[in-house]
Formats: sequence, structure tokens, C-alpha cells
Amino acid sequence: MIIKNDLNTEELFHQAEKFHKKNDILKAENLYKKIIEIDPQHIGSLNNLGIILIGKRKFKEAKNLFNKIIQINPSYSSSYNSLGIINKTQNNLNAAINYFKKAVEINSKDFYAFNNLGLIFRQKNENIKALEYFEKSISINPKFDQVYNNIGTLYYEFGKFDEAIKSFENAVKINPYLTEVYCNLGLVYEQLGEPYKAFNYYDKVRKDDKNYLIARYNLGNLFLKDHQYEKAIKIFESIDFGKSKSFLLRCYFKLNYEKSFYKQLKKENLKGKTDAIIASLTSEANYKYKKNKSNSFCNKPLDHLYKNNLDKNCDFKNIFVNAYNEILDQKEFNNKQQKLLVNGLQSAGNIFLNKNKNIFKIKEIINREIKNYLFKYKNSDEGFIKNWKDDYKLNGWFVCMKNGGKIKPHIHDYGRLSGSIYINVPSEKVNNSGDLVVSLTSQDSNYNNKDLSRIINIETGTIFLFPASLFHYTIPFSSKEDRIVLAFDVI
Ligand SMILES: [Fe+2]
Repeated sequence: MIIKNDLNTEELFHQAEKFHKKNDILKAENLYKKIIEIDPQHIGSLNNLGIILIGKRKFKEAKNLFNKIIQINPSYSSSYNSLGIINKTQNNLNAAINYFKKAVEINSKDFYAFNNLGLIFRQKNENIKALEYFEKSISINPKFDQVYNNIGTLYYEFGKFDEAIKSFENAVKINPYLTEVYCNLGLVYEQLGEPYKAFNYYDKVRKDDKNYLIARYNLGNLFLKDHQYEKAIKIFESIDFGKSKSFLLRCYFKLNYEKSFYKQLKKENLKGKTDAIIASLTSEANYKYKKNKSNSFCNKPLDHLYKNNLDKNCDFKNIFVNAYNEILDQKEFNNKQQKLLVNGLQSAGNIFLNKNKNIFKIKEIINREIKNYLFKYKNSDEGFIKNWKDDYKLNGWFVCMKNGGKIKPHIHDYGRLSGSIYINVPSEKVNNSGDLVVSLTSQDSNYNNKDLSRIINIETGTIFLFPASLFHYTIPFSSKEDRIVLAFDVI
């Protein structure tokens, strides 16, 4: 397109916006700069140039432009919103909140700023507040597609799957091209035990879409959980996202592809990337292939166990038993599909997001026990302790087993440290019935082998912490009483 030289600033601005909408950023940027040369107080150009600079991560220059706009017109609310976005990106969360609040103070209809406040409180793990801001944003603009996705994601984490689906469906009704929502809908249907629906949603995301990578990652995980290892390998070999390479190693191991396994393991170790999955696979492979490879997460997980009795330190019944009973009574309480569990139920979502009053106390107790754990192993050379970061998140769920119940050997893929608190353990124990076994391998026949496993005697009130790389499972029990556990991960 040829730009005539005699255009006035408004005509130039119109042209620049056209380029901007077509994503021809270079031409748009040059035109905005030209307008500002002619009219240094042209707010539209200053604002749009600032937005382009945010996209280029030139935050200092962008900030100058937005501050200039505020000098020219202190009631231009979107400048505060943009300054909030810059601060949020730079992790200055409190400054960002102040800017977003200023934006809605000036313009109470600024639904973008309300949505941004929701996002920031979500980042701060203050989810009830986040939901309030998202709902405010929607009440101003019921056609704002992105905010329905944000609300759906929150409900998903709360374990309220029906509401999550409703919200995601609203988002794609407004904007069928919001493909991130298809990835999220797939995750909900996986939790509901409907893999075919999940598969169809992941499959909707096309190759040229920016969310294609996430959709492929989710699909790879779906195949892995369904034991379709070859299909999962094909995906995980072609992407590098999230824990794709750790899951690739798991597929190789499951199919006994020893050469591919060790070739990939070497690559991951060279990258310095080790997590609970890789650590656990290294241990299992050492046993299976008679090797002695080390890993940088934890080489001796059986030497890093911690057990304590919470009954001595807190009002266990009033805090833990009541929390369990009250949360179970909540109308919206959901269970999720858990294939590893026999004769039992597992709660959906992250229990630490529940609004029950005892949850706060439970988190405090767990945080204190984690500190005790770290103190006990302060001299350990294991990577998961040496690289410990205090800004962890807790993800927790209840598991209730009935007579004859058990959970098969598994590890917690996304954890660093894992734990369980025993809210009720049936009193009539025969030998080790109902006890927990932690193990270096996924074979539940190894529990008497002291080199590979430990049997952990548990009773009501016990807290047990262990590296997330350890396999664990329960010994079946017979009782009229339920065996109730709060399981959690430090992420
Ligand atoms: Fe577990």
C-alpha cells in the first residue's frame, strides 16, 4: 500500500490502525511514530505504540509512553491498565494491582481491567477474589470470550466440572476460534473419565494454531494413560513442551526400548532437567537393567522419609475430621475418575482451594511439617532439597477407601515432595493391612525387599512425607470403617 504524504494525522492514524489490525506491526509502528512527530500529544498513537512495545518486551519505553498519556489526560483509564500489564509481566504484582484498581476507579466499565485483576489474584492463589473479578468483568461485557475461559479454568481447579464445562462452552459459543478452550474442555472430560470426548476436542486444534502444541501434549498424555505407548511416543518425540520428554522416557521404559531409553535419558541429564518422573524411571531402570545410573533429583529416596503424629500437636479431630466431613457435605463436592483406586473414591480438584474454614489451618500445619522435613534433611546432597524453592504450591485431594480397598503403585508426576495425612485408619489391623508401602519400583510384590521398599505403619493422625519420585501403594484391608487420607503434593 502506498501512503500519500499529504494525509493529515487522523487519516494517518486510520491507516496505522489498519496495518495494526492486519498484524503488519512494522508499518503500524512507523506510522504511529510519524504521527507522534507531527503531534507529540496524539493519545491514540502513543497508546497503540505502547501496546506494540509491550509485545516486543520493550517495557521501559512502553512505560514512558503510558505515563506521558496520563500527563496529557489523567482520566485515560486504559493507560493504567497497560501499566498494570507491564508490572504483572515483570512480576510486580502489588504495583500491577494498584494500576488495575486505578483503571476501574476511573472507568467502572473497564472489563479488561477487571479481568486482569482476576488473573492477578489467580496468580496470587486468591481464587475466590479472582472469581469475583472475572464475574464483574462478564457482568459488564457478557460477550467477553476470554473471561469465560478464565472462569472455566478456575472451576476446573476447584473440581466443579459441570460449571467448568458450561463456562468453556460459553467461551467457544462467542468465539469458536478460541482454541485454548478446546484443550481445557478435553482436560475436563479426561477427569470425568470420557477420553473419547477429550480426544475429539484435542483433535479440533489445527496444525497452524498457536495452541496446537498444548493440544498435542494433552493428546500424548491421553494416549500414555490409555497405554497406547507407540502413539504417545510419536507425539512426545515431535514436541518439547512441559514434561513431554519425561513422559517419552516413560513410554520407552514401558515398551522395554532400553537403547532409546538410555539415549534419551542421557540427553535429559545433559540438559540438567530432572524431575520426579525421570528420577523414578532411573531407579526402576537400574533395577530392571542392572545399572547404576544416578539422577539429579533424588538417588536415595528411601533415606528421605519423614513420619510424625499430628495428634500430639493440634486438635486433629476438630481440624482434619471436621474439614473432611464438612467438605463432603458441600453440594458442589465432586469425585473424579481414578483408575488406580479399587473400592474407593478420590475428590476432584485441588482441596486447598476449598473455602472451608479449616483448610487454612491445615495448610499452616502442612507448611510447618515441610519445614521440619527440610530441617531433618538439611545436610542432604539430593537435588530436590538443594534446589528447594520456598514459593511452592500445595495440591491436595481426599481418598476414601472402603472395605477391601487399595490403591495400585504410582508416583506423583508433578510433585517434588509428596505427603499423606491419615484422617481415619481402621482400628482392627491384621499384620500390615491398610499400611502404606513406598518403593523404588512399580512392582507391588517387592514389599518385603528392604533394598527396594519400606512398609510404613500408619494410624489415625499420622503425617508421612516422601520424595515424589517414590512409588507408593496400600496393602488391602478389611474393615467396616473407611480409610480416609488427605494426599498432597508440594509443587
Ligand atoms: Fe499417591
